[in-house]
Amino acid sequence: MATSRDARGRLVLGGVALEEVAALAGTPTYVYDLGAVRAGVREITAAFGGDPHLVAYAVKANSAGPVVRAVAAEGAGADVVSGPELALALGAGISPDRIVYSGVAKTDAELDLAVAAQIRGVQIESVEEVERVAARARAASRRVKVAIRVNPEVDLETLATHQGIATGHDDAKFGVALSDFGRAFSAVLAQPELELVGLTTHVGSQFTQIEPYVVAARRLFELAAEVASRAPLSYLDTGGGFGIDYGQGCPVAPADFVRAVRAERDRAGFGGMTLVCEPGRSLVASHGVLLSRVVQRKVSGERRWLMIDAGMNDLVRPAMYQARHRIVPVEPPAAPSVGQRVVGPVCESSDDFGSCALPERGFELVAILDAGAYGYTMASAYNGRALPAEVFVEDGKVAFVRPRAAASAWVEERLAAGRA
Ligand SMILES: Cc1ncc(COP(=O)(O)O)c(C=O)c1O
Repeated sequence: MATSRDARGRLVLGGVALEEVAALAGTPTYVYDLGAVRAGVREITAAFGGDPHLVAYAVKANSAGPVVRAVAAEGAGADVVSGPELALALGAGISPDRIVYSGVAKTDAELDLAVAAQIRGVQIESVEEVERVAARARAASRRVKVAIRVNPEVDLETLATHQGIATGHDDAKFGVALSDFGRAFSAVLAQPELELVGLTTHVGSQFTQIEPYVVAARRLFELAAEVASRAPLSYLDTGGGFGIDYGQGCPVAPADFVRAVRAERDRAGFGGMTLVCEPGRSLVASHGVLLSRVVQRKVSGERRWLMIDAGMNDLVRPAMYQARHRIVPVEPPAAPSVGQRVVGPVCESSDDFGSCALPERGFELVAILDAGAYGYTMASAYNGRALPAEVFVEDGKVAFVRPRAAASAWVEERLAAGRA
């Protein structure tokens, strides 16, 4: 939670009063504090000490240009999972040798882009993908740096995160199974176009304890030790997943994960080896809010509903992962709080942000907190709803505004196909 209240009791993010942002950009609007995002990159970087490392920001968490440019300016690279994300990272000025590319079903066109850009590592996710990557390299008459993404098959109980964001267990589609690793390794070495430079894993997201991350890292390092004499690796990538406090607590910080992984690496005998991590959520979630206006209040028996103009199309995490976000009034709270069920306008029962204690009256704007990650990037136009605006604040000022699309744009776009 990165918001505070100013002397007048108004909710503030990054030194800017959110009611002023609502007046400027309307609602629903995502607001991000770029200065805090930058500080987060610096903290993770510092945790590496002087060790060789790459902080590869997971662009999927928040792909807004000002955010990606801000993390890049602090020295971060990028972890991308699609051709457009790769193009975005390059367009934001991130050098190709600081970009890694994961994904279970990269198309030939996407692989061609990665081959042409000569990125740090195409992270191969199956034995079968090896030949496809080699074929695209041959077609371009290029050699390509690759890493093998391993699925370390950590059990779900140890992973201890929501099943929808757990990726390193044996029933997940991601990565090469431990039992297939030998085949994947030999297949890569057999392709002269492929240069094996790393091993990688990513076992899930929103870890609020270090243990699952370290268990996975340890398995990765053990595999690396088995093959290191046959392939000179230049990096080991332990993925993203550092959790944040959505209100239920998170006793660990990203730097704690980094320090624990460095210790594991040293124990495994890889001191001096470049470590890569792929933080997404932890760099942006707490530094963004979704600003929304109350449209309708309804009291029905014991129930108090607060209907707002942001819906599951704008922020899908509650509907998709049963996630809970704190919701607070933007105006100075001026009445006792009562339990209210905050819901959006979308025609789905799951368009429900949950029950919150909010003042009985006296506010028209709310902020859904910790919405800077997997918010806008997962938004849709369901129910004909225009994508929300985005406002970027820095140094106590509004730095950029990306307005909300006009509702008529959706109508036009839907009607356009097949029109004479
Ligand atoms: C391969 C990969 N790396 C990194 C991340 C970022 O995870 P997080 O946002 O939890 O740090 C993800 C998220 O899904 C991912 O799939």
